Amino acid sequence: MSYARALRCRKCGQEYPVQPMSVCEFCLSPLEVVYDYKAMAKTVNRDKVAKGPLSMWRYRDFLPTEVKEIDLGTGFTPLVKADNLGREIGLDRLYIKNDCLNPTYSFKDRPVSVAVTKAREFGFDTIACASTGNLAASVAAHAAKANMKACVFVPASVEPGKLIGIAVYNPVLMTVEGSYDDVNRLCALLVQRYHWGFVNINLRPYYAEGSKTLGYEVAEQLGWRAPDCVVAPAASGLMFTRIWKALDELSMLGLIEPANTHMFVAQAAGSSPIVNAFEAGSLHVLPVVPDTIAKSIAIGNPTDGQYALRIARQTGGGAGAVTDEEVLAGMKLLAQTEGIFAEAVGGVVVGVVKKLAASGAIKRNDLTVAYITGAGPRTQDTVADVVRPLVVRPTVESVEEVLGVPA
Ligand SMILES: Cc1ncc(COP(=O)(O)O)c(C=O)c1O
Ligand SMILES: [Zn+2]
Repeated sequence: MSYARALRCRKCGQEYPVQPMSVCEFCLSPLEVVYDYKAMAKTVNRDKVAKGPLSMWRYRDFLPTEVKEIDLGTGFTPLVKADNLGREIGLDRLYIKNDCLNPTYSFKDRPVSVAVTKAREFGFDTIACASTGNLAASVAAHAAKANMKACVFVPASVEPGKLIGIAVYNPVLMTVEGSYDDVNRLCALLVQRYHWGFVNINLRPYYAEGSKTLGYEVAEQLGWRAPDCVVAPAASGLMFTRIWKALDELSMLGLIEPANTHMFVAQAAGSSPIVNAFEAGSLHVLPVVPDTIAKSIAIGNPTDGQYALRIARQTGGGAGAVTDEEVLAGMKLLAQTEGIFAEAVGGVVVGVVKKLAASGAIKRNDLTVAYITGAGPRTQDTVADVVRPLVVRPTVESVEEVLGVPA
């Protein structure tokens, strides 16, 4: 039994029964799952969570599913104290949430596990998505595990390594000649014709909830407290909003002290509509045409952009963007200080944390959590210029020669 009670419109408050639906019929704003928090408060506590599995499903009570979960072993990823990186950029209490270590190498396994479980519950036999790459891999993998069909759509410009990482699970894979925003528009038309569960369209309210586990886990791993500062990447902005929702719920239910976390959005300068709005002091996120190597987060018209923007403002956080050059430097810095090989999105986050520390927006002593949400190896060509081996003959002399050891 879940505590999910209804879907509610984030703008006008209209409520709907729990069903496959994502926008309000009256004002077209996004719907979100609401819970019976009173009932939850009576049974949910730290000990109960601690007795759960070492996966995101230890937070089952906070999720909107009724049936047995479809789970590849997602979540409860390491929260690493990043002393080396912190020293480089001037932060004494920097932590990295290493979500590269999920079954399909990105945080997307969290929302997808919830969405596919819900799709099963609603009786869909096909799951689908509009994706920049990572989501499609996760949907295809979960479909394989669940014995369901998958049909996934990605922009034709997706990195070759990502395509292999999707195709290996044998979904119906369509590469669309257009940007991610075109893919999304296409899928919004298809959802009206086909009885498919599009995880990030008609199942979006449930999908969104899976990302809350990024917030719960960090709070638990810190010994049941909220960070002072969070830096997280934003594409559609959805994950960012759910990290905050998780901290808010934990405060409300008394599992942590009231959260006073400053939430910072990280984007690539070539696709930074949320950062632009923040910096302009505007309430409106104006679409852009993305152009960045951080393709996973190259979304020009972010569905949840205005909500992410509002959270960054209301929490006294902020927003920052970095150039592709800084993204590459960030990827290398993370690998070379903490041993974590993230994809370009990780470079975005590291670059933005560095900027925020340098500007004083994040203070040296702030307990800061940087979310690293996708792994590097599927797109390793991005940093191919690091390969500069010293070529030697198979002799000790040859090795010592290149090392400059005097004979
Ligand atoms: C690795 C990675 N990080 C972050 C995001 C951002 O997710 P959201 O669309 O919820 O903002 C994505 C989205 O595709 C992603 O692939
Ligand atoms: Zn509404």
